[in-house]
Amino acid sequence: MTTSLSKTPQAETTQAQPLAFIDLAAQQARIRPQLDQAIARVLDHGKYIMGPEVREFEQQLADFGGAGHAISCSSGTDALLMVMMAKDIGPGDAVICPAFTFTATPEVIALLGATPVFADVREDTFNLDPDALAAAVDAAKDAGLTPKAIIAVDLFGLPADYNAIEKFADDNGLWVLDDAAQGFGAIYKNRKIGQLGLATATSFFPAKPLGCYGDGGAILTDDEELAATLESIRMHGKGTDKYDNVRIGINGRIDTMQAAILIEKLKIFADEIEARDKVAAYYNAALAGNNGVSVPVVPDGLTSVWAQYTLRVPAARRDALAKALKAKGVPTAIYYPKPLHHQTAYRDFPAPAGGLAVSERLAKEVLSLPMHPYLEEAMQDQVIKSLLAEL
Ligand SMILES: Cc1ncc(COP(=O)(O)O)c(C=O)c1O
Repeated sequence: MTTSLSKTPQAETTQAQPLAFIDLAAQQARIRPQLDQAIARVLDHGKYIMGPEVREFEQQLADFGGAGHAISCSSGTDALLMVMMAKDIGPGDAVICPAFTFTATPEVIALLGATPVFADVREDTFNLDPDALAAAVDAAKDAGLTPKAIIAVDLFGLPADYNAIEKFADDNGLWVLDDAAQGFGAIYKNRKIGQLGLATATSFFPAKPLGCYGDGGAILTDDEELAATLESIRMHGKGTDKYDNVRIGINGRIDTMQAAILIEKLKIFADEIEARDKVAAYYNAALAGNNGVSVPVVPDGLTSVWAQYTLRVPAARRDALAKALKAKGVPTAIYYPKPLHHQTAYRDFPAPAGGLAVSERLAKEVLSLPMHPYLEEAMQDQVIKSLLAEL
C-alpha cells in the first residue's frame, strides 16, 4: 500500500488541527518509553539477527492469531512468496486471486513463473466473490494451466468469505492462502485471522494495523510440515544448519529490532482495534445514506481491523471530491486506482470470460478517509463536515 506515513501538511484553510491520514506519531507517543527500552535491550545483547525477541514475538503472534505456528519474515510480500515456494508453485500452475488488491498478491505468483488468474470481487465487501471463482478456474484451464491455489485477500481489514472460498477450494482440489497483510486481528465467524485456509500471510509495514518501524511480515499456520519448510526457506533453504542447503530459499528473516518493537505494539493492538472500530462506527453514522455515498459493509459474524476506511462515491465526482477535500486540509487516498488486470505487468495473463466488471468499477469509485486509532471525534467531524459540504 502506498500510504504516506507522515502527517499531511496543513493546507491554507481555517481548520483547527492538522489531519493525518495515518498518525503513527500518536501511537509512538503512547508507548515511547517501552519502545526505547525494547530497542536498548537489543543494543545491549547485540543479537541483531534471530535474537531472542524473534522467537518471543513469534510465540505471542501465534497465540494472538490462534495458530499452532508463526514464522516471522522480512515483509508481507516475502510471507506470501515463501508459502508459494513451500508449496512448489511454479511454471504451468495457476493461482487465483482478486483483481482488486495490492500488487504484491499476484506478484509472488508471477515471480515463481506461475500464472496469476484474476477473479472478480464483491461490490459490498471489496473482497473475492466466491461466485466468481469458477470462471477464473475455467480461464486457467482454458489457458492450459493447472489451478493449484486461491489467495484470498482481507482487503481494507475485512476478512474475505472463507466458508464459501474454502468450500470451493475443497471441491476443486485447491488450497487457500489468506493474504491478511491488511486484516490481521480481524475475526471471521468465530475464527481468527490466522486460522483460515492452509496459512495466513501478514505484513508489518509501518502503516498496517500492526506495523513495525521498517519492513516485516509473518506466516501463521497449523500445518507443522509447512511451518518447518517455511523456517528452512527463510534461511536460504537450510537443513540441519545454515551451511546444509536442502532447497532453494531466500534471506527472509525479520530483524531482531523489529521483533522487539512488535512485542510492544502487540500489547496495545487489541485496544487499538477497538479504537479503530469506534472511528469507523462514527464515520458510518454520519455518512450513511448521504447523496451517493456507500459506507463500508461488515457482514454479520465478521469484524474488520479497518486498515482503511473506504467509501464508494459516484465515479464521475470521485477525483473532484478528493481534490476539494485536500484543499480543505483533509487527506484522502485511492486504494486502488487501477485493477490489476489493467496494469502493464499483468494485462497479458488470462482473465475470466465474463470480465472483471466490479473490480473495474470499484477502482473508479473508492475513496479512503483518514483512519487510525488516535483519530479524535473533533478531527472526524472536520472530515465529515468537509465531505458533506461537497456532496
Ligand atoms: C494486500 C496486501 N498484500 C501484500 C502486501 C505486501 O506487504 P509488504 O509491504 O509488507 O511486503 C500488502 C502491503 O502493502 C498488501 O496490502
